[in-house]
Amino acid sequence: MKECLTVAMPKGRIFEEAVVLLREAGYDLPPEFDESRKLIVDIDNENMRFILAKPTDVPTYVEYGVADIGIAGKDTMLEEDRDVYEVLDLKISPCHMAVAGLPNKEMSSVAPKIATKYPSIASSYFRAKGEQVEIIKLNGSIELAPLIGLADRIVDIVSTGRTLKENGLVEYEHIVDVTSRLIVNPVSFRMKAKTIDMLVERLSKVVEGNE
Ligand code: PRP
Repeated sequence: MKECLTVAMPKGRIFEEAVVLLREAGYDLPPEFDESRKLIVDIDNENMRFILAKPTDVPTYVEYGVADIGIAGKDTMLEEDRDVYEVLDLKISPCHMAVAGLPNKEMSSVAPKIATKYPSIASSYFRAKGEQVEIIKLNGSIELAPLIGLADRIVDIVSTGRTLKENGLVEYEHIVDVTSRLIVNPVSFRMKAKTIDMLVERLSKVVEGNE
């Protein structure tokens, strides 16, 4: 009898690539899996349960042990700072985090405003540079902020660069490269070592093969 593994999967842009990777690693996920709106999907033949979560919540489910493993962007890992093991760089959904704003526009010299979905990453970044800024937390469409005068700069993910370009914004600073990671709950890592090791090994081979 195989051990059951609960996997927290991020809904949205990482999901599709993560499913491809799992299938390449030999996990038999049925075609319905991709289209389903169910939030808990049991794949009995693999003894796996998938929970479909908001990407930023994946590390939370894994930290609390309601999922043994999860797939999360490095951006989310840095922002959430959860007590989980990051065991493998899956090298999917590559993008980077950047400081961007309107072209040829200096930041205000007094308390410049930075709009972002990543307040923790943004404040650490500017603190490390010795710059005092005011962080404005938004939940999406961050690129709006400099356009309508809410902020001097944004800290956000750049993938293709299309959103910046189409909104007339430019990148000023590169903060960090981002890819998706396989994360593991520390207790599950010990209790389900064999099953998790096997999964990591199978996924590692696929990742290496894709390079
Ligand atoms: C992300 C990010 C940028 C955009 C970058 O937003 O916040 O806005 O994608 O991608 P690009 O460089 O390929 O244009 P997302 O689509 O997740 O939506 P959001 O605005 O709700 O954050």
